[in-house]
Amino acid sequence: MSAQQSDAFVFFGATGDLAFKQIFPALNALVNRGGLDIPIIGMARAGWNLEKLRDRARQSLEQAGSFRPQEFGKLSGQLRYVDGDYGDAETFRKLRQALGEAARPIHYLAIPPSMFGKVVQGLAQSGCAKNARVIVEKPFGRDLASAQRLDRTLHEVFPETSIFRIDHYLGKEAVQNLLYFRFANSFLEPIWNRHYVRDIQVTMAESFGVQGRGAFYEETGAVRDVVQNHLLQVISLLAMDPPAGYEEHARQAEKLRLFRAMRPLDPREVVRGQFRGYRQEHGVAPDSQVETFVALKLHIDTWRWADVPFYIRAGKCLPITATQVVVTLKQPPLPVFDGGDTLPNNYFRLRLSPEVVISTGALVKRSGEEMRGEPVELVARHHSESDKSPYERLIGDAVRGDTSLFTQDETVEAAWKVVDPLLHDPLPATPYEPGTWGPRQADEVIEGGETWHDPTPETSHPC
Ligand code: BG6
Repeated sequence: MSAQQSDAFVFFGATGDLAFKQIFPALNALVNRGGLDIPIIGMARAGWNLEKLRDRARQSLEQAGSFRPQEFGKLSGQLRYVDGDYGDAETFRKLRQALGEAARPIHYLAIPPSMFGKVVQGLAQSGCAKNARVIVEKPFGRDLASAQRLDRTLHEVFPETSIFRIDHYLGKEAVQNLLYFRFANSFLEPIWNRHYVRDIQVTMAESFGVQGRGAFYEETGAVRDVVQNHLLQVISLLAMDPPAGYEEHARQAEKLRLFRAMRPLDPREVVRGQFRGYRQEHGVAPDSQVETFVALKLHIDTWRWADVPFYIRAGKCLPITATQVVVTLKQPPLPVFDGGDTLPNNYFRLRLSPEVVISTGALVKRSGEEMRGEPVELVARHHSESDKSPYERLIGDAVRGDTSLFTQDETVEAAWKVVDPLLHDPLPATPYEPGTWGPRQADEVIEGGETWHDPTPETSHPC
């Protein structure tokens, strides 16, 4: 049975940063592609009016480079605005009024989690939660205990099937391609296990710092900001078993099984770093120990992956902005050609951003008399990121009631269990110079004298 489309879109935190950077551009794209023909109601306590909200929307699109005067009228015409305190019943009465005939609204909580309780109760008491959906943003809590509390708060009013937790990584084309590439091809499955795979590395490098979000980052750090969510999600797609069937619940069930097989991280297999200059950022404590870099080893306790290390590295102020997975295969069991064992192992490289690349590293014979080899890369896919932003994709899905790219309570909680040992009393973060690959100690995370695969600028490929 297909889900019913929501008939009004409400976003709390309409004057905030998330709305400015992501929500307005996504709404504008949806509206102009014909995917969102419903009232759009901004909520905030800012003393604003509708004109001010429209101005803000326009500025947001200008900044995103997607403002087209001839198109803007559509979004602008669908916008409404309700101002008021989220603790005041009157605010929700005004919202109910603004919803008019709408009977199945969707509420996007683009606000700090500490306000969820008030808003959810306000929605329930005013009747605005009836037949409604709710979208919430990461971070879903700060640790396992707070995530569970947050889930309880939401579940007081909304059933799990009406809660859409956004992890924008899941809306990326390249991340969806991971799943597709793995399970649409039959050649991968026989080798996608501990018998053939030596190790898997995921690097999420960003060449910029915290971009004015020092206060947010102080509360977060790299582990909470990108490892607990984006990068563990990527690992789950790389490592999960094939779902039994194409229904969404089959996929979610396999993902959850995989998350539950991830061993909680061992702080002795983790290196935390902080770029020099972070402590001078606005909103950052002068003696902050928050990590802007992390490198770690993860174990997955299944028959498929026992003893295969999964390495994760993420950091700000690194030499390049790129997210990349490298799956390295083992060497052939015995060398047949002289010097073959000094050449690189076979690998799969999956570049997730900014380009989308799927390639395989192989060895071929160099031309000439000798049986000497050289590495080549066979490229299966090479293009730039999709023109649809993850937020456009995910908001559109939520409005249509398609839950497949959203995270469930049990998965989020399982992910917190994995990172929880790192969150309480972490060891000091080692300083590193901006523009480098983090503290030297990160190399020690890798077993057996191997090294990190640093993403390099992608050369264009005729494909
Ligand atoms: C966000 C983090 O969730 O993801 C940011 O809060 C990070 O710190 C961002 O920069 C990266 O996402 P993308 O899609 O820009 O690679």
